[in-house]
Amino acid sequence: MGNLKALFIALVSNIALANSVARANFYADTFFNWGYQNTAIWGDGDNLALILNNVSGSGIQTRKQYLFGSIEMQIKLVEGNSAGTVTTYYLSSTGEKHDEIDFEFLGNLSGKPYMIHTNVYAQGVGNREQQFYPWFDPTSDFHNYTIHWNPSQIVWFIDSIPIRVFKNHENIGIPYPNQQAMQAYSSIWNADNWATQGGLVKIDWSNAPFIARYRKLKLRACEWKGQNSIYKCASSTPNNWWTSSEYSQLSYAQMGQMEWVRNNYMVYDYCKDTKRFLCLLKSALCGVSFHVSTDHHEPDPRLLSEDHPRERGGSEGGGVGDRDCDGDRSVAEHVEESGGGAEVDDEGDGVVIDGDEIGPLAELAHCAEVLL
Ligand SMILES: *[C@@H]1O[C@H](CO)[C@@H](O)[C@H](O)[C@H]1NC(C)=O
Ligand SMILES: *[C@@H]1O[C@H](CO)[C@@H](O)[C@H](O)[C@H]1NC(C)=O
Ligand SMILES: *[C@@H]1O[C@H](CO)[C@@H](O)[C@H](O)[C@H]1NC(C)=O
Repeated sequence: MGNLKALFIALVSNIALANSVARANFYADTFFNWGYQNTAIWGDGDNLALILNNVSGSGIQTRKQYLFGSIEMQIKLVEGNSAGTVTTYYLSSTGEKHDEIDFEFLGNLSGKPYMIHTNVYAQGVGNREQQFYPWFDPTSDFHNYTIHWNPSQIVWFIDSIPIRVFKNHENIGIPYPNQQAMQAYSSIWNADNWATQGGLVKIDWSNAPFIARYRKLKLRACEWKGQNSIYKCASSTPNNWWTSSEYSQLSYAQMGQMEWVRNNYMVYDYCKDTKRFLCLLKSALCGVSFHVSTDHHEPDPRLLSEDHPRERGGSEGGGVGDRDCDGDRSVAEHVEESGGGAEVDDEGDGVVIDGDEIGPLAELAHCAEVLL
């Protein structure tokens, strides 16, 4: 009996220890990178509010950098008429060819659905948007938005239901974020030039301030301690729980849940947008600068000062917008026309231009594999 009790106490205190390590504190573990006057932290650092008014939005980021693990946050989105506002929650590295894993919440008129926008950048390349309507009212209560990120895959969860998986397919030449440390960020800002119904619905400032609420940030992730971490955070050890086989793929039950979300709530999937990818490919061939900016974060002054193109804010509703695209000619014709420099790659699923491989078709092949 005494033994059992001791075991029980040991178990409970172990759990408490594990939780206290993972459970972050907004004072200790994050700092404001923008709009400090439009923020509030209370309850010993357990609660956070980010506010948007006609003067400014606001943003926070974690102090530490991580490579792999679980980043968990409970968020209650702006209530009522949130049209034109965007609330973000994402992981990102800094510098050129950055990696990034996004959740973005596009506001809407009262009673109309929020849009949950997801994307992933690997070595500077994004264009991998998937969008969903929530199956619940994200403004009436807190919900658990978690990113699981490990060497095998990235999973976006809402209330423990996987809505999206991005698998590591480096073996077929698709870059995967596994070399660069990321910080977690969150922000709220004015994006009424594109966010709601493609920019048609503007912010109604009489509803300001717009408030996004956060709590229970958990950083159960591998802390970056320099280049060594690329190896250390990826190695399969008991401490690196994210590398265990149960996290390398979804269970059958989880696949069923994801299928349910995709069948009923998915709005846009880049994987099915063959027209857009052919268009990208052709534009690249013609030497047309075809910048599809789909990064919607509020300009971060620090990054802007480095003239960071990705932070200028997109004008596309998640790449769903129409672009002029010469749909008449085949890829082969474009290759021919480009007059040197360009050739179809060995596998025939991408194009090499002046030595740079552009592989949107490989990307789509990768999608097909994920869906099968
Ligand atoms: C911003 O909102 C405040 C309070 O509603 C108002 O007094 C002020 O005039 C507004 N400023 C601008 C620039 O619209
Ligand atoms: C939030 O979701 C993640 C991913 O499913 C899960 O690991 C975690 O336990 C959830 N948190 C809570 C408080 O339920
Ligand atoms: C807002 O509601 C409209 C009408 O239901 C819908 O078409 C749109 O996708 C919703 N979300 C956004 C961000 O525009």
